[in-house]
Amino acid sequence: MIILRTINDVCRYVSEQRDHGASVGLVPTMGALHEGHISLVEKSVSENTVTVVSVFVNPTQFNNPADLASYPRKEEDDIRLLAAAGASAVFVPSVEEIYPGGTEVQEPHVFDLGMAAEVMEGKYRPGHFQGVAQIVSKLFRIVMPDRAYFGEKDFQQIAVIRNMIKSEGIDVDIVACPIKRADDGLALSSRNALLSPEERKVAPEIHAALKDSVEYSFSHSVQATHDTVVERINAIPHLDVEYFEIVDARTLAAIDEWEESPWVVGCITVYCGKVRLIDNIAYRLPK
Ligand code: PAJ
Repeated sequence: MIILRTINDVCRYVSEQRDHGASVGLVPTMGALHEGHISLVEKSVSENTVTVVSVFVNPTQFNNPADLASYPRKEEDDIRLLAAAGASAVFVPSVEEIYPGGTEVQEPHVFDLGMAAEVMEGKYRPGHFQGVAQIVSKLFRIVMPDRAYFGEKDFQQIAVIRNMIKSEGIDVDIVACPIKRADDGLALSSRNALLSPEERKVAPEIHAALKDSVEYSFSHSVQATHDTVVERINAIPHLDVEYFEIVDARTLAAIDEWEESPWVVGCITVYCGKVRLIDNIAYRLPK
């Protein structure tokens, strides 16, 4: 596996590979890699000649400076894991390499991300998706991948990126990959490393509440299902629901009745102590 630190090096590497007829998969990450990230890498390795993984903690998508400062960074471990997973190249740029004009540019490019970027994470993390669109569009233009791999743990992020490539006219296949979980059900996340032992013990209740509510949803209204999840999680020490929305999986618009959409997902964000965890569950899937 080759380690690339500059945009020029990535462009040169990818164009050499393309000259040899390679297909290129890209897996964008912020590092502190776990099995969730690695599952994306493995899928890309199985579907492309070459897999480029980016590891970059993107400052422009953090609306909270404390969150950016505490975000785990483990470059050496990441490089070892990626080599073992069969990645061809890892792109580990500096902030200056990606944002030579600084991250506080006067007139940042504003992306048209549609309604999907306004709700849920968009509402609670203002500017977050503009930052995600900024870095992901840059990576797409640098690497020009045939396919790019994203995890369904960040369900809304995938919808927003699909809107971004449409409005920016970028030609890439977005491949959505299933959520990887710990044995106790907690969705794997780089932020799990920030949980205290007590918090880590209760965090799996988020998935447990969501999972149990699927059965419940077949005999209860959308509102009742919503409320049972929020009440159950909030009753547990350390856990505090920021939002839980039951939405149409394609538009991310909230629904009032199950019949409104063939594909319904519940998206949740919960504070576990000071750590913000997100997860989601499918209530209805299209036949
Ligand atoms: P990060 O949180 O590092 O996640 C990188 C990719 O891994 C995302 O597509 C995310 O959905 C996926 N992922 C994380 N945990 C997962 C899990 N448990 N199962 C499956 N996939 C999982 O998401 C970002 O970084 C950034 O916003 C990024 C797209 C890199 C832009 O900076």
